[in-house]
Amino acid sequence: MPRLLRPSFNVRALRRLLPPCGYDVHGARAEWRWLREWAEASVAPALVRPTLERALWERARLRKPLQYILGTQPFGDLELLTRPPTLIPRWETEEWVLRLAGLISSTSPSGPPLRILDLCTGTGCIALGLAAHCPSGQVQVWGVDVAESAILLARENAKKMHPLLRGNSVHFQLGDLNDPSSLPQGPFDLIVSNPPYVTQEDWAGLEPEVRVWEDSRALVADHAGLQCHQAIASLAASHLLHIPHPGPRTLPRLLMECGEGQGKVIQDILNSVKFSRTDIWLDLAGSDRVVVAY
Ligand SMILES: C[S@@+](CC[C@H](N)C(=O)[O-])C[C@H]1O[C@@H](n2cnc3c(N)ncnc32)[C@H](O)[C@@H]1O
Repeated sequence: MPRLLRPSFNVRALRRLLPPCGYDVHGARAEWRWLREWAEASVAPALVRPTLERALWERARLRKPLQYILGTQPFGDLELLTRPPTLIPRWETEEWVLRLAGLISSTSPSGPPLRILDLCTGTGCIALGLAAHCPSGQVQVWGVDVAESAILLARENAKKMHPLLRGNSVHFQLGDLNDPSSLPQGPFDLIVSNPPYVTQEDWAGLEPEVRVWEDSRALVADHAGLQCHQAIASLAASHLLHIPHPGPRTLPRLLMECGEGQGKVIQDILNSVKFSRTDIWLDLAGSDRVVVAY
């Protein structure tokens, strides 16, 4: 630790980090350790203390999320760039993406690579996570987002993470899931998405780290938070996916992340557009997290 970081500075720093960490002492200690490691690794020794002072001010006063200060967030084996207002990848998403990559890896399909469409790609975490955790040459992924800032960041992430993508190709493009003509040409073997699913009322009650810093377009959706799920279900059923005849399938065709308690309604939407079987994957906390259609 640099000589300038005296014990009194550490105590004051922890005190300032307690409110944004919800008064969780372990959380505040962890954030302080990450901030120190980041500052010590990224600036000259003489600048460590002023850099930390600024970071503490941003974190405590402006309630800037830690990942926007550090500039990165781990996602599986990847270290993704994070920048406001693009949504910071969440552990819940990382969990199901690794589960899906495991499924794809275990089926080892022969023949051409699986064509995968990631709608609402944000940082590109899902598209890049699948490319990095599926066997070499087994997937081709297209990521689409309506926000130009997200597509620019996703492309930077693709460039930075290229050595870890195992030769699997990933392309990012601007597009709106409400405008099918703006989307990449189908059909696809698999559609994945973490669309916005928070209601306007729930968004108003979220913590400042989310409300002030992350794009509300990334979070809020009409129709009880399900407008994007409805649009994706229609796209999948119409021209983006070849829906096979009902029968046993090991690989899903469509996965959509959802919020707590939304799983059953989304299953009903998918059943109404001719998917033969749907499941709900729970997250580690036991909440509905992904609706999976076969
Ligand atoms: C919940 S974030 C998910 C980002 C990323 N996939 C992840 O898991 O971290 C939703 C993303 O959907 C994008 N989005 C919102 N409406 C959209 C639309 N109509 N068409 C395409 N993308 C949209 C937002 O810009 C945002 O990046």
